[in-house]
Amino acid sequence: MIPAISLEDAFAGPFQLESLDSPGLLENRQEIWRKELSDTIYGPLPPAPAELEFEVSPLAGSSAERIEITMRSANGARDLAVDAALWRPKNRVDAPLIAGLGFAGPVGILAGPEFPLDKRARIHCRSELGVENGRLHDVLRGTEAHRWPVEMLTAQGYAVMVSCYGSWAPDDPDEIMRHGACPFIGLDTGAISLWAWAIQRLLDAAELIGGLDMGQVAVAGHSRLGKAALWAAANDTRISAVLANNSGCAGAAPAGHAVGETLAEMAAAFPHWIRLRGHAPSLDQHHLLACTAPRKVYVASAEQDLWTDPAGTYLALVAASEVWPESCSWPSMEAMWAGERQTRHASLGHHLRPGGHELLPYDWQRFLDFLDGGHT
Ligand code: GCU
Repeated sequence: MIPAISLEDAFAGPFQLESLDSPGLLENRQEIWRKELSDTIYGPLPPAPAELEFEVSPLAGSSAERIEITMRSANGARDLAVDAALWRPKNRVDAPLIAGLGFAGPVGILAGPEFPLDKRARIHCRSELGVENGRLHDVLRGTEAHRWPVEMLTAQGYAVMVSCYGSWAPDDPDEIMRHGACPFIGLDTGAISLWAWAIQRLLDAAELIGGLDMGQVAVAGHSRLGKAALWAAANDTRISAVLANNSGCAGAAPAGHAVGETLAEMAAAFPHWIRLRGHAPSLDQHHLLACTAPRKVYVASAEQDLWTDPAGTYLALVAASEVWPESCSWPSMEAMWAGERQTRHASLGHHLRPGGHELLPYDWQRFLDFLDGGHT
């Protein structure tokens, strides 16, 4: 049996994030935070492409549609073509949308052979599946279905759009300059910014496709893709809610809290993800969360996943909540850890699940309850 994680393991003792309570206009302060986060952590978020077109085709034997997105750069010199899949709920027009990136994208969700493998995609190697060259491969088919339970989501009235992150920007420090968004845009920036840009392009396509309620758009992501979802939401007001699961360092977990991965460790292991430059110690991930106010933010953690700092994640959300107009009461860290481990307000929510680093239907059910607006 896996021993439970105690609060002492998870919480490095008294810890204070800088208060965000200040008289200035929130929009102006958010602009400053976005710029500091971009200048010192993520690198710039690229502008939208000059042109974006799409083609929709049904997928034989599946309820999903294939969306082929083609983008053209400003001078028309370069193209970028990427695939996504869209699932719509039955008997509902103008459904709210949940969009995001997956590690293997539609191929990871659909077990059958119907979705083509993107040969250009470069993903993080998953040696346990026998994928060693960073390419999408048949063995990945269906392996991420639990992370994107599309039947459950469509049954509850949501449309779902997912693309493979490695089709947009290779998750590989040697390949990132050669394929995907980086050469297309011609901009030196971190992969988290490029994946956030990818999420924005999914929304561009969704707007053009039609039949979706673009007033209710949630973006979701797990781990490195939760970091990208948060950064996309912080920058794009078309996003009405962000669901960040186990997002950790450079996601919802504060760098100043001495548990889990540090920014320096992350930059050493994944040099292509961020563009780290010295920043004021007072700048931390609660600023990132606060950039999405007054829209909805939900952060989820897992007890065994200390690498992503569950306790710090909770404290960042609590600290960020100062800038939301609603008044939120949050249990103390001790009460949260010992108690229900879930707090939901109208615009902010959190849960701490038993178990480790994963995105599970359990997490989704709580995200959906939050989107549907019920308070606990
Ligand atoms: C590594 C990395 C984390 C990241 C995670 C993931 O563990 O250190 O920052 O969140 O991979 O994306 O699964």
